[in-house]
Amino acid sequence: TRFWIVIPAAGVGKRMGADVPKQYLEVAGKPVLQHTVERLLAVHRVSAVMVALGADDEFWPELPCSREPRVLTATGGKERADSVLNALCALSAHAADDDWVLVHDAARACITPADVERLMEILEDHPVGGILALPVTDTLKEVENGTIKGSPDRSRIWRALTPQMFRYRALKEALESAAKGGLAVTDEASALELAGQSPRVVEGRSDNIKITRPEDLPLAAFYLERQCF
Ligand code: CTP
Ligand code: MG
Repeated sequence: TRFWIVIPAAGVGKRMGADVPKQYLEVAGKPVLQHTVERLLAVHRVSAVMVALGADDEFWPELPCSREPRVLTATGGKERADSVLNALCALSAHAADDDWVLVHDAARACITPADVERLMEILEDHPVGGILALPVTDTLKEVENGTIKGSPDRSRIWRALTPQMFRYRALKEALESAAKGGLAVTDEASALELAGQSPRVVEGRSDNIKITRPEDLPLAAFYLERQCF
């Protein structure tokens, strides 16, 4: 079985509010997406990286990684899940049903190759697959109209990160059936859960942040400059 990477990179970065999509903002000397692709290509067992791009993306060809032999592109869709599904369809010419696919957000540029390798090693013999995740550290509140209704048991709650690693065919079918059922899934694991599967969690690193708002940029720059891989 081979390992493929899918990078949804077709978002507009509304919460960032910049004049270009956030994956093209420069952080620590390079565009966010260049960091992300480089770090995933540094994982030697990866056969290729499939990047889902916005239909009118004029920035991608400017990135050095766009000319790498192990990099392929597809056109993204309306929601993140549509972009991932389009990328999986484009992979159908290359991937076998049982191959592993690791879906990783373009906006998570601080991913370390070592974390990706650890996820691959821990899950490669697992029947379903799983995700990098982190136990929450804050106390949680369930809130209705500004009023606290309860405090869920924190020891059972983890935050979902990416990569999320599943078998090619199982992932494609789970996303297709969620889409058909009109169910909005914000990550791949949710789609597998809806299909009755029980994915694993593998503890990730807290510096694997999703660059979302302007204040995330200096934090990402700090992590990117400090990590050596
Ligand atoms: N993404 C995508 N296709 C979409 C929407 C999002 O490929 N239709 C990608 C984004 O490019 C990003 C990842 O999914 O790398 C995670 O999404 P998010 O952080 O929400 O990015 P945006 O949707 O671009 O940001 P916002 O929600 O603030 O607009
Ligand atoms: Mg979004």
